[in-house]
Amino acid sequence: MNVSIVILAAGLGTRMKSKYAKVLHKAGGKALVEHVVDAALEIAEPANIVVITGHQADSVEALLGARGIRFARQTEQKGTGHAVLMAKPLLETVPGIVVILYGDTPLLTAGTVRGLLDAHGESGCAATLIATKLEDPTGYGRVLLNSDGLVTGIVEQKAATPEQLTIQLTNSGIYAFEAPALWKHLSEIQPNPASGEIYLTDMAEILNGAGKSVRPHQIEDPSELFGINTRVELSVADALLRARKVRELMLAGVTIEQPETVTVDSQVQVGMDTVIAPFAQLRGATVVGADCTIGACSILSNAKLADGVTVEAFTMIGDSQVGAGAGIGPFARLRMQADVGAQAKIGNVVELKKTKFGAGAKAQHLAYLGDAQIGAKTNIGAGTITCNYDGTAKHETKIGTDAFIGSNATLVAPVEIQDRAYVGAGSVITDAVPADALALGRGRQVIKEGWAKKRSAKGQK
Ligand code: UD1
Ligand code: CA
Repeated sequence: MNVSIVILAAGLGTRMKSKYAKVLHKAGGKALVEHVVDAALEIAEPANIVVITGHQADSVEALLGARGIRFARQTEQKGTGHAVLMAKPLLETVPGIVVILYGDTPLLTAGTVRGLLDAHGESGCAATLIATKLEDPTGYGRVLLNSDGLVTGIVEQKAATPEQLTIQLTNSGIYAFEAPALWKHLSEIQPNPASGEIYLTDMAEILNGAGKSVRPHQIEDPSELFGINTRVELSVADALLRARKVRELMLAGVTIEQPETVTVDSQVQVGMDTVIAPFAQLRGATVVGADCTIGACSILSNAKLADGVTVEAFTMIGDSQVGAGAGIGPFARLRMQADVGAQAKIGNVVELKKTKFGAGAKAQHLAYLGDAQIGAKTNIGAGTITCNYDGTAKHETKIGTDAFIGSNATLVAPVEIQDRAYVGAGSVITDAVPADALALGRGRQVIKEGWAKKRSAKGQK
C-alpha cells in the first residue's frame, strides 16, 4: 500500500504569544513538527511526505530539510482544506492513500497512524477519520453519523446546533483518504459562509454527495491527539514525551533512578545496563554506550560516550566524546570537540576545550586544557593551565606520551612537551621540552635561617 502524508504546519499559533511559529517550539527536545514528521517517516517514503508551511516557512523548511521530505507553501492561511490543496501539485499523480496530520500534535505515534491505515484498508471507504469520544468536546468538530455508523458530516463548534453540541464524538483532524477521491473532490469545497475559510471537514459531505462513504475509526485513548495551542500545553506535552522516553529506555535495559527528575531528549540513545542518576540531563544527539554511569545533575549535550564510561555528578559534556572505560568528573567540563581516550581520567574541576586527551592519561584535579593534544598515559598535575589565548589568537599545546606535568604548571602556547618529559611543579613553560628531559621554569627557593626568631625579638607579631 502506497502512502503519502500531508502535514499541516502553516499556522502561526497566536495563543503561543511568540515571535516563532508554533510548530517550531520544542517539547521533548525536538520541535513539535519534527515529532510529527519523524512519526510520518516511519510510514511513508520521504518524497511522499509534504509539509505545508506558511508562517516562518524558511525556518520550518530549514529545520526539516535534511530529512529529504517535500514542502508546499500556503502563503495565506485560508483553512485546512486550502492547506491540503497546496500539496495537490506534488502528490496528485501518486496513487494509494493520503494521510492528513497536523504539525502541532507531537504525541502522535506511527502506531496510531498504522491503526488508521489498517481500519481504512478493511473498510473500503473513500475516507476514514480518527474520531474520539470526549467528556468535554468543546472546541472540536463534531462527527455526525448515520444509522450505519458512517460519517455524514462534520460540524464545527461555531456552526453546531444546540443538539449537535451534545455530540461527544469529535473529529481528531487525522484522516486517511483514497488519493484519487481526495484530489478529485478537494477543489469542490466552498468557503465557509461564516469564516470564509475552506474547511477540509466539508469533504465528508462532499464524498457522501458523490456516493462515497466515510468511516470513523474510533480510538479509546485520545492522549496522542493532544494538540498544542499554549505554552501550558507545551509543557504538558514535554512532560509526557519525556516520560515516554525514559520509560522506553528503562524497558530497553537502562536503569534510571527517580525517572521523574531525569531529562532525556527524544533522539538520545543509551546502551544496556547504563545507570542514570537523579536530575541528569541527556540532550540533543547524545549517545551513551552500555555499562556507563551518568552521575546526578550531570548535563550531556551532543555527547558521545563509549561503553563503560563513568560520569560523576555535576559534570557537563557538550559536543565532545569519551572513550571506553574513561572516568569524568565530578564537576568536570568537556566542550567543543574535546576527545577523551579510553581509560583516561578527568577529575574534579577540570575543563577540556578542543583537546585530544590520550588513552589512559590523567588530569585529576583543577586544570584547564584548551587547544591541546595530550599523549597516552601522560599525567597532568593539579592546577595545570594551558595558556592558549594571547589576547588575539588561540595557540596549541602539544604534550607527548608518558609525560609528567607537575602541579600548577603554566604552559604558554604555542609550546611542545615531548614524550616522557617532566615539567617541575609551578613551572612556567614557554619553550619546547625535548623527550626524556626535565624542565624547570620557576624561581629558586631561598632560606633565611632564624629569620622568624629575629622578627619576634623585634616585638613584631
Ligand atoms: C480542526 C478541524 C476540527 C477538529 C480539530 C481537531 C477543520 C475545519 N476543523 O479544527 O473538526 O476537531 O481540527 O484538532 O479542519 N492550518 C494550516 N493552514 C490553514 C489552517 C490551518 O496549515 O489555513 C494548520 C494549523 O496550523 C494547525 C492545523 O492546520 O496545525 C489545524 O488547524 P486549526 O485552525 O487549528 O483547526 P481547528 O480549528 O483546530
Ligand atoms: Ca487546533
